[in-house]
Amino acid sequence: MRSNQVRLNNGITIPVIGMGTYSMENDRKTTENAVHMALKIGYRHFDTAKIYGSEPALGNALREAIIDGVVEREDIFVTSKLWGSDHNDPVSALKQSLQKLGMEYVDMYLVHWPVKLKPWVCYPVPKEEDFEKVLDMEKTWFGMEKCLEMGLCRSIGVSNFSSTKIETLLDFASVPPAINQVEMHPMWRQKKLRDFCGDYRIHVSAYSPLGGPGNAWGSTAVVNNPIIQSIALKHRSTPAQVALNWGLSKGASVIVKSFNEDRLKENMGALDLKLDDYDLLEIEKRRKCEDSFFLRLIFLYSIDKNTFSGSNMLDAKPSMNKTKQNLKTIRC
Ligand SMILES: NC(=O)c1ccc[n+]([C@@H]2O[C@H](COP(=O)([O-])OP(=O)(O)OC[C@H]3O[C@@H](n4cnc5c(N)ncnc54)[C@H](OP(=O)(O)O)[C@@H]3O)[C@@H](O)[C@H]2O)c1
Repeated sequence: MRSNQVRLNNGITIPVIGMGTYSMENDRKTTENAVHMALKIGYRHFDTAKIYGSEPALGNALREAIIDGVVEREDIFVTSKLWGSDHNDPVSALKQSLQKLGMEYVDMYLVHWPVKLKPWVCYPVPKEEDFEKVLDMEKTWFGMEKCLEMGLCRSIGVSNFSSTKIETLLDFASVPPAINQVEMHPMWRQKKLRDFCGDYRIHVSAYSPLGGPGNAWGSTAVVNNPIIQSIALKHRSTPAQVALNWGLSKGASVIVKSFNEDRLKENMGALDLKLDDYDLLEIEKRRKCEDSFFLRLIFLYSIDKNTFSGSNMLDAKPSMNKTKQNLKTIRC
């Protein structure tokens, strides 16, 4: 196995640091430049989704790099995701993504959320009336397996699934998910979900591993946390490197977004850090700051309306009333 990779339950390997490509601006040139910088720095794992609108820019930059001999297709790992309005036909949705990417296959195709949206909802902030009442996850997963069978992707997985939802999925899946991509960082540690996924050999991939600072849903609570900062000082590293290395130390891969050359380098530098037991214990003692993340709000709201198991989507949840009060945005 190449270094800095983990092997998934289907035998395929995935680089442990992935570059996220969601940006609110979604400026094609900026994204392309960032992907070229990332390739030069050593990133080989790229995360996109239909709803990010970044597939064309990512695909174009990767194609250019392949033509220029910077990388070979086999050396990169590309993830895309099935949006909530496409559950009826994952094969067609993936074919459209591949067309935008200009690729013959992706390495990973994920069910973006365990919720179903009305067919016309192709914006990242759905309103209450945009949600379908029922999600037939068995049908969706059958479509995902079809994508695999047709060679449109090398692996399939899920995102934002709770352990209960995965357990239900496993009851009918012929191919188990290889990955569950969820929000995870030192302030939202996903212990229960990690343990569950570990039992089923489902790899956990951490998105927003820095807590998404600067994003509408994000927060600086991770990078500004005094404990994270003091650990960074101790190791002569940076808070971002500490947060990323914490995720890696838990066996997760981390999907971190930066379009800035220095920060792309800094984030890759997380691989060189070695947190000790004391650091990990200090982080473990931190109170979780779940309430500061908008993500759960819209989906906790939606679980009553759009569920395939009747269970909570996330393992830790605030009360429903609070959820409704704070219903503001969706994390994409
Ligand atoms: N599956 C899902 O539902 C889901 C949800 C959310 C995100 N994702 C994926 O995960 C990726 C990353 O998540 P995210 O963007 O929410 O959060 P993130 O990676 O934790 O944070 C990104 C933000 O942090 C800044 N940043 C990057 N490196 C930094 C550093 N070293 N120090 C300080 N700030 C830094 C970035 O700005 P600069 O660009 O200016 O550096 C950007 O504003 C997304 O791009 C997307 O691909 C998936």
